Amino acid sequence: MVSGMRPSGALHLGHYHGVLKNWLALQQETDCLFFAADWHALTTHYENPGQTGELTLEMVIDWLAVGIDPEQATIFVQSHVPEHAELHLLLSMITPLGWLERVPTYKDQQEKLKERDLATYGFLGYPVLQGADILIYHGSRVPVGEDQVAHVELTREIARRFNHLFGREPDLAERVSAILKNLDPQAGADYHRLRQCHQEQGDAEALATARRWIDEYPGLSTPDRDRLRAHLEGGARQILTEPAALLTRSARLPGMDGQKMSKSYGNTIALREPLDQVAQKLRTMPTDPARVRRTDPGEPTRCPVWALHQVYSDAETQAWVQEGCRSAGIGCVECKKPLMEAVTAELEPIQARARELSADRGQVEAILAAGSDKARALAGETMHEVRRVMGLRSR
Ligand code: TRP
Ligand code: SF4
Repeated sequence: MVSGMRPSGALHLGHYHGVLKNWLALQQETDCLFFAADWHALTTHYENPGQTGELTLEMVIDWLAVGIDPEQATIFVQSHVPEHAELHLLLSMITPLGWLERVPTYKDQQEKLKERDLATYGFLGYPVLQGADILIYHGSRVPVGEDQVAHVELTREIARRFNHLFGREPDLAERVSAILKNLDPQAGADYHRLRQCHQEQGDAEALATARRWIDEYPGLSTPDRDRLRAHLEGGARQILTEPAALLTRSARLPGMDGQKMSKSYGNTIALREPLDQVAQKLRTMPTDPARVRRTDPGEPTRCPVWALHQVYSDAETQAWVQEGCRSAGIGCVECKKPLMEAVTAELEPIQARARELSADRGQVEAILAAGSDKARALAGETMHEVRRVMGLRSR
């Protein structure tokens, strides 16, 4: 599982509910790599790079404060693993320009960020770099929001093209014969029969059986299994693994104005925002505009406060809000109270942990150093194989 986040400085509750909670669940389930995509930040913010390092550290402090755990996940900074850049370069050799020009975010972002000149080589290559981030770790799952799905799809296409170009071994048939010779002779005969049924008669059952046989036959090495699969299906060996996007049902946290919480709308609550300021923001948060006086009944579905209740409150509180609002039984100040309590309770431990980490930046640096060592070891293995199949001389 691989995922990156561009360093944008202090994170807010939208990041927490939309992305980080999902990371927290994933780190318990599977091997995760989480990294700060500082090079990606430079593709759009190359003119004022002075802050990138600082923003990276602040973002990582927030990750750790919410519970992203260096014991469970590998946490690092993209630019500390230069192998990403090498793979990006090599993938750029085989990525058709048209594929990049067609990625929706390319034109969209240029439109959105009109004040910046994004007609650069680096920005066009943004998804290739993202592809390298994923493929270098054989990432099979990439949890992303909707806006990133096209990038993961492109990553799949690049992997497929790479495998097609470099996964074909001229001596595959001989190698397969050598592999089969070492197995039980009956197994070899069965394999040939199944392959023939698949290739000559399109027998799907035979294909499924042969695949299972390859996956399960004891004692085969991974490259040999890959070779058998390539031979069976008449394709190429999987050198780079095609990832699947893991679309996160992002709990779209509404901001103070009811729109999606986002820094560009100025409607956020930062994870490290002083709690009195948080209370102030909630107190002044707009409610159903039709509810002018305390005695006017309101309609929760027209109220951004209700949107927050749906994230923070249990069924009982939600029923209390709906009933009380529609009957004018409760006032808006009262309605916001459980919300304030829930948000405060959520933020308090995060802020305590963030204070500790900010006071001991050496600890954060050490976590990142250990993470990049781990990531580099993994990335190095992939690069070794990539250089080899691309015909580069190894050192
Ligand atoms: N482009 C992603 C974003 O803006 C960040 C990112 C960079 C990423 N590399 C990645 C996400 C690899 C997942 C996997 O959100
Ligand atoms: Fe919104 Fe609650 Fe006021 Fe109803 S009572 S308008 S839901 S803040």
